[in-house]
Amino acid sequence: MRFAGATILALPLWIAGIEANYGIDYDAKASYFNFQVNGNSLYVFALNVVADTGDIYFHMSGPVLHTWLGIGFGSSMKDAFMIVAYPSDNGLDTTISTRLGSGHTEPVWTSGYEIQGVFNDTYAPNANKVTDDGTGVIIAHSVCRNCTKWPTGSLDLENIQQPMIFALGPQKQFRSDSVEASIPRHALYGQFTTDMTKATNYSGWYGRVPAPNVPDFVFPPDDTAFATFGTAPPYNVDTMNNPMPTAHAVLMCFAFVILFPAGALVMQFLKKTLWHAAIQSIGFVAVLGGFGVAINVARQYNKSKNYSSGHQVLGLIVLAGLFIQLGLGLVHHSIYVRTKKPTPIGRIHFFLGPSIMLLGLINGGVGFNFAHNHRMTIPYAIVVVAIILVCAGVGGCVALCRNRRKYKPEREPYPHPNFGQQPGYTDYELPRQPTFGEQPPEPYEPPTPYSPIGHFEIESPYTPSSAYTPVTPKTWRKEDITNWPQWPHHKEDEWR
Ligand code: HEM
Ligand code: HEM
Ligand SMILES: *[C@@H]1O[C@H](CO)[C@@H](O)[C@H](O)[C@H]1NC(C)=O
Ligand SMILES: *[C@@H]1O[C@H](CO)[C@@H](O)[C@H](O)[C@H]1NC(C)=O
Ligand SMILES: *[C@@H]1O[C@H](CO)[C@@H](O)[C@H](O)[C@H]1NC(C)=O
Repeated sequence: MRFAGATILALPLWIAGIEANYGIDYDAKASYFNFQVNGNSLYVFALNVVADTGDIYFHMSGPVLHTWLGIGFGSSMKDAFMIVAYPSDNGLDTTISTRLGSGHTEPVWTSGYEIQGVFNDTYAPNANKVTDDGTGVIIAHSVCRNCTKWPTGSLDLENIQQPMIFALGPQKQFRSDSVEASIPRHALYGQFTTDMTKATNYSGWYGRVPAPNVPDFVFPPDDTAFATFGTAPPYNVDTMNNPMPTAHAVLMCFAFVILFPAGALVMQFLKKTLWHAAIQSIGFVAVLGGFGVAINVARQYNKSKNYSSGHQVLGLIVLAGLFIQLGLGLVHHSIYVRTKKPTPIGRIHFFLGPSIMLLGLINGGVGFNFAHNHRMTIPYAIVVVAIILVCAGVGGCVALCRNRRKYKPEREPYPHPNFGQQPGYTDYELPRQPTFGEQPPEPYEPPTPYSPIGHFEIESPYTPSSAYTPVTPKTWRKEDITNWPQWPHHKEDEWR
């Protein structure tokens, strides 16, 4: 990115030609920092300090597109006293929050510092508002009472190179009335120094929020009516965007949106146990990676450092569920390989899986919300609904196909012997139902839990197609078993 050289203008403010001065006191002290990119003003911070009271009068403005603007006193985030401004809930006013920095993490709101909006300056009609109906410039125009000292530092009012930091938020939708709101990480930040002797009134109580200092400014003034004065050009300006939240989202969504549903369908539809296990394992690894990234991200924000947010709690539950699911799958399979029979463990695995998938998918939506990424909500919701429909559709199809194959009418339970012959039912032309005992009994199918739908690859040994022989499980002898015909080797699992 190319930065237009920041203009340092020691403007002769007494310049002639100003028709109305809007109550501007051109003798009052002030410093101005106007950060521009390609000639466009991105960030303005103007300062007037009253030494005797420690009051800090400031104007801070920049495009609301960047959701928040911040100034910090100090050379780095660590130990800096910061003032952060962002749009209020209704998007029209400005919330101003005093915070202390402790390192490369979100600064924490600190009480004991009073911010008072100044609304009666005629040159600031949009004081503490967001202009253009909430779409333009966010303007902080206030006084911070007794703010020159804080627990970890102070403003050196004699320093002609007092270090300061500034930052702008990312282009997200973030609004809050709360001074403690968790702000997203900056998309642009940098440092500059201020000549405090230009900004400070050392004698008395008088201060005011610096006025526009461009002599021919157009009324009402916007954030470009401020010319840099009493500050040095910015340095260490960076636009590093944190890739971590995106990496977290990509890994998690890859697992829950693509891999887990695919793996479930492979099992349901194709009955490929190995494929199923492989795909779900890759998904599991992706989730582990996403979780590792999340640990790194979580420590940066006040909202997430305690792991108490809904998104994180649900995420941890899902994670635990995945571990259980993996264990169940492995145990079931190892038993199944030996017994060739569905297991209760497989049954739990079968029902737990979709529940975890659903929770994980929901948590993705919660996550986008958590990250102030509201524009993702609707597209993501559509994707989730599509996945549910596909899974339900394919699952339903599969169940139906199996039932078709399996569900022969003669296997229906016998109706009541006299059904259809009772008085009052004569109007109905019901086919006469066979009475019990009239026909040879159907092949015996024991109501074991091992023979539900989905049992179609092999004919059950209990349902020989030949004539009924009164063999009951109790009378089986070893020979019976060893004499059974060799069924084609059955490779894939029955999960339920
Ligand atoms: C959610 C809140 C914030 C987080 C998570 C955060 C995180 C970070 C991180 C990780 C860095 C190191 C450089 C990088 O990797 O990008 C950094 C640097 C920086 N941040 Fe922040 N920051 C936050 C808020 C702020 C605010 C409010 C300001 C200004 C008032 C600010 C000003 C700076 C500056 C000037 C630097 C470069 C100097 C330094 O390393 O301290 N940050 N921040
Ligand atoms: C089912 C598991 C999970 C899914 C599907 C998931 C998904 C997501 C998604 C989609 C985002 C939005 C990212 C963005 O828009 O930049 C997000 C944000 C986040 N997730 Fe997760 N997540 C899961 C579990 C977790 C866990 C266990 C933690 C615990 C540390 C966590 C911590 C976070 C944090 C701190 C953010 C906010 C990042 C930011 O504000 O930039 N997530 N998650
Ligand atoms: C604005 O109001 C403050 C107190 O509320 C007062 O001290 C100050 O003189 C007023 N300024 C103007 C220009 O009226
Ligand atoms: C300003 O704050 C300091 C502590 O930081 C305190 O000792 C002092 O009394 C305060 N002054 C005023 C005028 O409130
Ligand atoms: C400093 O404050 C006093 C009143 O306390 C005021 O008379 C004077 O004009 C102020 N000086 C500047 C340069 O603002």
